[in-house]
Amino acid sequence: MNIFENKKELIAHVDALKCEKKTLGFLPTMGALHQGHASLIRKGLDENDVVVVSIFVNPTQFDNQEDLVKYPRTLDSDVELLETISEEKVIVYAPSVDDIYGNNVISTSFSYDGLEHEMEGRFRDGHFDGVGTVVKRLFEIVRPDKAYFGEKDFQQLMIIKKLVEKYNIPVKVVGCKIYRAKDGLAMSSRNLRLKPEYRKAAPFVYKTLKAAKDKFGTKSADKLTEWVTKQFAGHDLLTLEYFIIANISTLKTVKRKTNQKSYRAFIAVYADDIRLIDNIALN
Ligand code: PAJ
Repeated sequence: MNIFENKKELIAHVDALKCEKKTLGFLPTMGALHQGHASLIRKGLDENDVVVVSIFVNPTQFDNQEDLVKYPRTLDSDVELLETISEEKVIVYAPSVDDIYGNNVISTSFSYDGLEHEMEGRFRDGHFDGVGTVVKRLFEIVRPDKAYFGEKDFQQLMIIKKLVEKYNIPVKVVGCKIYRAKDGLAMSSRNLRLKPEYRKAAPFVYKTLKAAKDKFGTKSADKLTEWVTKQFAGHDLLTLEYFIIANISTLKTVKRKTNQKSYRAFIAVYADDIRLIDNIALN
């Protein structure tokens, strides 16, 4: 498997692939790879000759230093997982902070037409500036035909689509379904850090989302939010940060539903000190 730690070498390799007219898919990740990431890579391999997977814990998107320090870094097992998918068609780019940022580890400020002020943007200061900064740089290095982003981070997916549109970046952004563990918990690198009792409790998040979806037809958005809040108020291990029903194109919280629009419910929950996010299509 080709593993590059240095952008110059990766750029030369991509140049060679482009000369051979190979199509290039790209999956940016922060590593601690799991089956959710694998599902995106498999989709990328179905649609491209080669898939580049970047593994980079991006410091500028963390508003919480402790979360950055504790973020799992598991390059050896990440490579092992990738080898089970394809040794030849998957290329790894695992740069250092220096390779991406030099000695200027700061983010550029982006406007995503207001998408950045909703949900995660309200609770994670500067997060989407950090995401936009790193993804834009990675796009410039990798120059993919298609890039894959999970609906697990639905707001991030919408923001990347906006970034590509605003900066005329020649890449097709492909959204991919949420991959879940058998018990319904959305797979996430942070799940690795859940203590057993919290891991056991965590599927309650998706269970509640599914119940909310069932009630969506008969309850108003406000009443549904109240109902979800109540479910978590009585929970010993999980603390609700937010539950929001939003219009999928503006991500604005819905006041009154109409039949013409598509809605999604979004949730963020603390399990101990670990933040879990999830979402579900409502109609
Ligand atoms: P990371 O959390 O590693 O996720 C990388 C990609 O995998 C994201 O697009 C994410 O939505 C997707 N993903 C993660 N878990 C998933 C699941 N259970 N089902 C479907 N897709 C899933 O998101 C990031 O990294 C970073 O913000 C990044 C875009 C790499 C920028 O640093």
